[in-house]
Amino acid sequence: MKRQNSAARAMPLHDLHPEPDDLHAEVVAGLRARQKTLPCKYLYDARGSKLFDQICELDEYYPTRTEVGILSDRATEIADAIGPEALVIELGSGSSTKTHRLLRALRSPVGYVPVDISREHLTEAADRIATRFPDLPVWPVCADFNAEIDLPEHGIDGGRRLIFFPGSTIGNFDEHARRALLRRMRDLCEGGPGRLLIGIDLIKDVDVLESAYDDRAGVTAAFNLNLLHRLNRELDSNFEPDHFEHRARFDSDASRIEMHLVSQVDQTVEIDGESFAFESGEVICTEHSYKFTIDGFAKVAAEAGWSLERSWTDAEDLFAILLFVLN
Ligand code: AVI
Repeated sequence: MKRQNSAARAMPLHDLHPEPDDLHAEVVAGLRARQKTLPCKYLYDARGSKLFDQICELDEYYPTRTEVGILSDRATEIADAIGPEALVIELGSGSSTKTHRLLRALRSPVGYVPVDISREHLTEAADRIATRFPDLPVWPVCADFNAEIDLPEHGIDGGRRLIFFPGSTIGNFDEHARRALLRRMRDLCEGGPGRLLIGIDLIKDVDVLESAYDDRAGVTAAFNLNLLHRLNRELDSNFEPDHFEHRARFDSDASRIEMHLVSQVDQTVEIDGESFAFESGEVICTEHSYKFTIDGFAKVAAEAGWSLERSWTDAEDLFAILLFVLN
């Protein structure tokens, strides 16, 4: 396919060569634990990512459309609060879909730095943004934001750094990892005024929460069970996905949706010659999705040096976009 002229405007990829995942080691470690667990990052193979895109379109799954609604309806206020000349650094930028709205609203942004582990996604998304905003320098960085990130020294040293972390992705991090990530975000702003614009999902009625993660059409169930298909394809394993069922429950004490795969029978699964026994009713935990209050999240962020400056919610208080500044 012919490259469009304007696509060349994205700067060359700054590649930090993130460590490839060790699927086998992580899966085996998770299944050897007393509470069997599989890391939620493995839900997103090609089919899982497509299913996730479908989840975002579901009636029951309110977070995506609500966040996009807040970003659109309050764009001017958000842009005014951020101020001019922001250097927007987006962690886990993926296809950068929400970024268009933000960049369109900001006053004279000085650059956009999408950070993602997938080179392919990153390059395509960076080119798309460069095409859409021809005067904006776009500096793609291939890195795992769960590890230290060294941004390129040249070019992106100007501007007021704004970390953009939409999608309530922060909710998929358990407490310890969440604190560490908030500290890494602070470190990315070192040496200048730094801000963080982040989307969080709010605590609400249990039925609304549980339906969002267990929709009538069964898309979330397919997304969850796809993980077992992936393991069978990429490891020497013999999961019978039909012998597991998707379940999503809100644990109000932990303030999180827990996504499980529940074994429907007593069964044994082999992974590369190692046997894992499952009793009927036993669960594999595949994802946590934490729900917050604005005050509760602000307290955790404060421990990492962030002070809450502004917050925006929708009319039903389903979702919030928070703006933090470094103190
Ligand atoms: C990506 N993440 C914010 C989603 C969430 O809501 O926790 C993942 C998801 N899992 C099931 N549905 C959506």
